[in-house]
Parts: sequence; structure tokens; C-alpha cells
Amino acid sequence: MAYNLALIPGDGIGKEVIPEGVRVLEALGRDFGFSLHFEPFAYSCQHYLEHGVMMPPDGIAALSRFDAIFLGAVGAPGVPDHVSLWGLLIPIRRSFDQYVNLRPVRLLAGIRSPLAGRNPEDIDFVVVRENTEGEYSAIGGRLFEGSEREMAVQESVFTRHGVDRILRYAFELAAKRRGKLTSATKSNGIIHTMPYWDERVAEMAKSYPGIAVDQFHIDILCAHFVQHPDWFDVVVGSNLFGDILSDLGPACAGGIGIAPSANLNPEKRFPSMFEPVHGSAPDIAGKGIANPIATLWTAQMMLEFLGETTAAAALMGAIERICAQGKILTPDLGGSATMRQVTDAILKQL
Ligand SMILES: NC(=O)c1ccc[n+]([C@@H]2O[C@H](COP(=O)([O-])OP(=O)(O)OC[C@H]3O[C@@H](n4cnc5c(N)ncnc54)[C@H](O)[C@@H]3O)[C@@H](O)[C@H]2O)c1
Repeated sequence: MAYNLALIPGDGIGKEVIPEGVRVLEALGRDFGFSLHFEPFAYSCQHYLEHGVMMPPDGIAALSRFDAIFLGAVGAPGVPDHVSLWGLLIPIRRSFDQYVNLRPVRLLAGIRSPLAGRNPEDIDFVVVRENTEGEYSAIGGRLFEGSEREMAVQESVFTRHGVDRILRYAFELAAKRRGKLTSATKSNGIIHTMPYWDERVAEMAKSYPGIAVDQFHIDILCAHFVQHPDWFDVVVGSNLFGDILSDLGPACAGGIGIAPSANLNPEKRFPSMFEPVHGSAPDIAGKGIANPIATLWTAQMMLEFLGETTAAAALMGAIERICAQGKILTPDLGGSATMRQVTDAILKQL
């Protein structure tokens, strides 16, 4: 097989970690008999500062030719975060109907959870976040700006199409895992969209009698992530709730330096996008100490989605062994190794 991959390193440590991912993917291609063609795109805050846009008008069309998009991170001091998000990430997610945002949360052996006394068997779940509608809608506006009557309105959008398809994905995933699904809600306070979400969960559950379903309001669910991470298998949430949970989850499992994510168009009508959970980390950019594991684990998710499951399993095994050994880790995990040393160690394991 041959795969065409678009690379968007982005800003800050994104530009450092994506080349590490490429090194590992190329090695896996050689070992497992598939070829990869990479094409870099300079879409970033730097691009915005030079051209006034995060990507050119034909950017989406250019990306549509690829099997997948491998993205580092975008964001830079001096460029408002909503510019980088709405100028690049959200247009890609929406144009390519990447309606599933998938974030596995696993405590790997050798990684210390900030939660006392927790072991790998206690933390192993997946956050499934709706990625195209919900609270992140552009519907709304401001009136009477600058006056005492100033106001802002922001609409949420929950369609049956959008809610049902993310729920179906989550139920199917639960069926392949340990058969448990948790829904994030807030139907006590948000009285239109969230009761609707709950209704659709109950309706979907009828088609999956083998799945144990529970639901929690988002506030207590956050507390349960910290106090009872072992309760969870698949956790499904709207765009906003999923976004919050998918940083809280990785934080419980040792930090965002190792946390991967995927934006999927499961039907493969459009390219899916794979990106580490972390941002551009301006505080450590250029120092060569960014943890590459989040990006390498993200590459593993990409290989799995492309169908290279043996290579994906080999990469995950190598990541797990390096973490378990605990000798070659970056400073965010308490080690003193550089980014390249960690990647080299993982390459050696392969
Ligand atoms: N998907 C994305 O592109 C994305 C996601 C989150 C934030 N951002 C952007 O990134 C910029 C910085 O945001 P932030 O500081 O809130 O989040 P961040 O993830 O960039 O950094 C948070 C903290 O985690 C550390 N960290 C992050 N990744 C690490 C890694 N691989 N290894 C070691 N340490 C790591 C950083 O040094 C920092 O202390 C902002 O402009 C933000 O908008 C982009």
C-alpha cells in the first residue's frame, strides 16, 4: 500500500514533533512494507502573520487529495487563539466532516498518574467527542457594542443527524471494548439541548441492549474522572463537554505530553486528521525537550485507521516498553532525555 499524507507541523513544538513522527512512520513503512508520501503545508500562525490568513483560500481543496492529515499544533503568542482555531482547525474538521474526535486515555506502565495509587488497569477509557456542531457554532452575534446595552448571544446546535451519528459511533466502540458507555450531560441546567441529547442516548441504547449505559452531569463527571477513573470505558460528550473531558482524562493519565487524538470521518469520504492533544507549547518551543510520545501515539492511531494494524501494534508496543523502562523520558515525565533521544529509543525498540 502507498499513502499520501499531508503534514501541517503548525507552530511552536508542532514543528519539532511532526518530523519525529515522520521518522518513525518512515521506519515502520520500511519494516512493514508500505510506502508513504509526505507533503508539507506551512499553514500556521506564521502564515497568518505573513499573509493575513491561516491557510490560503484553496487550502481545503489542496488537503482533500490526501489519505490523512498529520498536524502538530497551531497557536502563537500575538495571534488570538480563536484566529488559529477558526482559521484552520475548525474549517478542516467541518469541511471534511470529521465528526468524531477520539481521545484514548490510558495510564501506561511506568508513567505516574497524578492520582494517588492508580495503576494501568485503573485508567483505560476513550473519550468520544462530537466534533462538528454542538456548542461550537458560529451562530450568534453582538449588539449595542460598546454601550451599556452591550450583549452577546451564542447558539448551540444539536441536530438528530449529528447527535445520532456520534452516539452510534460511541456505542459501536463500546461494543468492541468492555461494553460500557457513559454519556456526559447537563440536562438539569441546559434545558433544551441536553434533555434532547439524553433522549437520543436512551433511544440509541435500545439498539444496543448488550451495552451498559449510564450518564452523569458534566460537573460530577469531572469529579468522577479524578476519583473513579476505573468506572469508565467509552465516554461520549457534546463538542464542549468532550473537549473539556478530553484534556482532563489525559491529565489523569500522566499529562498531555503523551496524549493522542484523531478527528475522524469514519466513512472515509474525506481525509481524517490526526493531532496530538497538546498545543504549540511556546514555553518550551525550540528547546528540543518536547515529549514526542503524544505525536507518535497519534501516528499509531493514524496507521490503525489506514488499516496498517500490524505496524500500529508494533509502534504501540515500542512506546509502552520505553515508558515501562522509565529510563529515557522527557522532563514533563520526570526524565532528562531530549525529544530526539526518546524517538531514537522508540525506533530502536521497533
Ligand atoms: N490542537 C492545537 O493545535 C492546540 C491545542 C491546544 C492549544 N493550542 C494552542 O497552543 C498554544 C499554547 O496553549 P497552552 O499553553 O494552553 O497549551 P499547550 O498544550 O501548548 O501547553 C500546556 C503546557 O503543557 C506543556 N506541554 C504541552 N505539550 C508538551 C509536550 N509534548 N511535551 C512536554 N510538555 C508539553 C507546555 O510546555 C505547557 O506548559 C495556544 O496558542 C493554544 O491556542 C493549540
